[in-house]
Amino acid sequence: MNLPPPPPAIQIQDIRYTQIFINNEWVNSESGKTFPTINPTNGKKICDVQEGDKDDINKAVAAAKKAFEFGSVWRTMDSSMRGVLLNKLAELIQRDRTYIASLETLDNGKPYKDAYYRDMERCIRTLRHYAGWTDKIQGKTIPVDGSSFCYTRHEPVGICGQIIPWNFPAAMMIWKIAPALACGNTVVVKPAEQTPLTSLYLASLVKEAGFPPGVVNVVPGYGPTAGGALTVHPDVNKVTFTGSTEVGQLIMEASAKSNLKRITLELGGKCPLVVFKDADLDTVVEAAHQAIFFNMGQVCTAGSRTYVHADIYDEFVKRSVDRAKNKLIGDPFDLKSEYGPQVSKEQFDKVLELIESGKSEGAKLECGGNRHGTEGYFIQPTVFTNVTENMRIGKEEIFGPVQQLIKFKTMDEVVARANDTTYGLAAACFTNDIDTAIEFSSRIQAGSVWINGYSLSTPQVPFGGYKMSGIGREGGEYGLQAYYEVKTVVIKTNKKL
Ligand code: NAI
Ligand code: MG
Repeated sequence: MNLPPPPPAIQIQDIRYTQIFINNEWVNSESGKTFPTINPTNGKKICDVQEGDKDDINKAVAAAKKAFEFGSVWRTMDSSMRGVLLNKLAELIQRDRTYIASLETLDNGKPYKDAYYRDMERCIRTLRHYAGWTDKIQGKTIPVDGSSFCYTRHEPVGICGQIIPWNFPAAMMIWKIAPALACGNTVVVKPAEQTPLTSLYLASLVKEAGFPPGVVNVVPGYGPTAGGALTVHPDVNKVTFTGSTEVGQLIMEASAKSNLKRITLELGGKCPLVVFKDADLDTVVEAAHQAIFFNMGQVCTAGSRTYVHADIYDEFVKRSVDRAKNKLIGDPFDLKSEYGPQVSKEQFDKVLELIESGKSEGAKLECGGNRHGTEGYFIQPTVFTNVTENMRIGKEEIFGPVQQLIKFKTMDEVVARANDTTYGLAAACFTNDIDTAIEFSSRIQAGSVWINGYSLSTPQVPFGGYKMSGIGREGGEYGLQAYYEVKTVVIKTNKKL
């Protein structure tokens, strides 16, 4: 993709929004507590943010409940007007795109040009996609037995708790609120504690766009406290979550024990990227490199197990190592940087520990493996060979810049090995042989299969996991299903009509 450079980033001095957003108002936490948010490029504090907990979640849920009451402004608004509001929010993000991308880079560490082009583009396009759906979410008329007239209504689920991860903070928030609002729900968003700043800025735009008070509420805070309170709240009808499988399981348990809230879980992955022997090497080496190193490997669909056919394996390793060694690492605000720090000290430590386990379990370190520089949470792009699926690095989600090149010989072998995981989020294969591509895509256990490309995911397509990678789908028309209940209305008639 040859894009022009984005407009210069904004040097943000004062952070405008650090409070809790409830009922279109900014408030302090009930406890009076705050928490720091850290710049991962240098490990220094950016600012303190109001720390939401149970009492703040209760207030936010009460606001969302009031906004959802029958007869409220939001409930009686024409469905097409919800589309106008979503489009307005898209316009405001476009207007402030440089600022929001700069804020994202400051708080998360991703390269500014990625924040500007990838994350902001995803926000805008997702909003526009769902803006088009608002007045097309419709039920059916069903020709029932006997003399009755039957129709279904697709009604909003109600109050949705939306728990956001730190890897695509703004884009994930929009990805969750857009379909929820399109269906007419109200939401309480809990951003990740590592990256609360863009969510709060987006909240200010929600207000400016004209959404009624209480429709969108944003409560920054920690997972077990603010997040946990949302998952057990009896008035919350649904929780949508993206994050670790471990927390996904806690959310399912909380739902079961509280009020059987509906859940959509988008969890981890250990995604196989399979290179068959006829694939074009130049193209695929770069695609496989991007698949794992984009966003410093902090992507649920990262291509973290690269299976390469034995006939081309050695050459593939050589070119992949050269590419990783030439990665342009540096200040994420520098437009030349392809690559920034991991999001936090915890993630930095976790990834380095997994790299050590790879070395001690017998994988061969081809390059990288250490921290880069002396400040911030940078890790060198790392490539391993001789990896097997029973090593920790072959099994666990690393969520970092660690490429694993694994040799295979046959379709049966690679399918068995690729499926030998508790995860099933995405998979890809590269081949020009149509039969190979179709066989692979049919046999692989994954919610998305990409052929001759990677991360081919746009706002229109459904996305979600098989197995322990999650429950439900987000994106496109399928993504709406998680946000409405189907109500069946049957009217007894005197005659068969
Ligand atoms: P996490 O799953 O703990 O955090 C994600 C979100 O869940 C955050 O907003 C957090 O505050 C919230 N949360 C945490 N505990 C909670 C609880 N008990 N109840 C309700 N909400 C809770 O992920 P974490 O600890 O930041 O990262 C650990 C690993 O999770 C990563 O190394 C990676 O493997 C995976 N992960 C996957 C993501 C994905 O896109 N699928 C995104 C982030 C992390
Ligand atoms: Mg956690």
